[in-house]
Amino acid sequence: MTIRYSAPGRVNLIGEHTDYNLGWSLPIALPQRTVVTLDPSDSDALEVRSDGADGVVRIPLTTKPGDVTGWASYVAGVVWALRMAGHSVPGGSISITSEVPIGSGLSSSAALECAALGALTSGLHIDRLDRARLAQRAENEYVGAPTGLLDQLSSLFGAASTALLIDFRTLSVSPVPFDPSASDVVLLLIDSRQRHGHVDSEYAARRLSCERAAADVGVVSLREIQDRGLSALDGVTDPVDARRARHVLTENQRVFDVVAALNDSDFTKVGRIFTASHVSMRDDFGITTAHIDLIADTAVAAGALGARMTGGGFGGCVIALVALDQADAVGAAVRSAVRAAGYDEPVITRTFAADGAMPG
Ligand code: GLA
Repeated sequence: MTIRYSAPGRVNLIGEHTDYNLGWSLPIALPQRTVVTLDPSDSDALEVRSDGADGVVRIPLTTKPGDVTGWASYVAGVVWALRMAGHSVPGGSISITSEVPIGSGLSSSAALECAALGALTSGLHIDRLDRARLAQRAENEYVGAPTGLLDQLSSLFGAASTALLIDFRTLSVSPVPFDPSASDVVLLLIDSRQRHGHVDSEYAARRLSCERAAADVGVVSLREIQDRGLSALDGVTDPVDARRARHVLTENQRVFDVVAALNDSDFTKVGRIFTASHVSMRDDFGITTAHIDLIADTAVAAGALGARMTGGGFGGCVIALVALDQADAVGAAVRSAVRAAGYDEPVITRTFAADGAMPG
């Protein structure tokens, strides 16, 4: 019996690099999905194919970290994490199709992990929080990327016209209505198509900066000083670490401010906060690039209500909130500025909050 399960990519509206600091984020699930189709058999391995790569990868069910690398490692990681948690995993063949672009900061990896996990556990009851933790374990310990829980929770909990307010200390996920189209506003997704070669080491370096800053002020995570104001960072020794930590604290506040503005359907205010988040990621957290800054700045100069990079950084996508009647003009201005600067043509689409992972 063939089993099919799909899971979406995500866009984080705001709350960047806050997840591993036990703060807050506000993502949406995207309409683009990854579909995993499993034909189970008695085999002691999975044979995996992807529409994004040539060839077949064989994953023994007893796989261990280090055995499989590349795109199939996300599936192998899920097999390993499930077995480590005491679940049995079927053998057979898997085929993967995906609409989520790889390396754009839209969580193609979490979409693949969550879709594979769903297909491999059909018939088992594992709640969404445990699924997110299993997928994260696959990514952290098998693939070797020290990422937080943002991407998996977004993919698993996403819902149409809904943003997800995630508290990473309690792991509560609260729905926040997100339907800009009802206010004649569109969410533009601008994929720069810029891929940064050192994203993994830069990500790990940001994480270490935050951990050092927390240790300097005597707490385990920056979350614990959120209520103390920015002067709580006076005890941070290294000025770069202090700037990184300042981004995290101000970004958490911006998450609350966006939620309040969304509850008032005040997209002008949401836009202004998006732009402030971009400036913080550029100046304090140091994760944007000249190419990404050009896209965000041009969108705002051409009339967007606000724009910010979304995702881990060093390339990827910018999101811009734009009044419906300005959307084409903003897209055209971004295209021509990017072209004039000699970068690749961006891919610009209108996007919206869509459903999370599910069978089929
Ligand atoms: C990547 C990681 C997430 C999160 C974001 C930044 O997407 O996978 O866990 O840290 O970067 O907000």
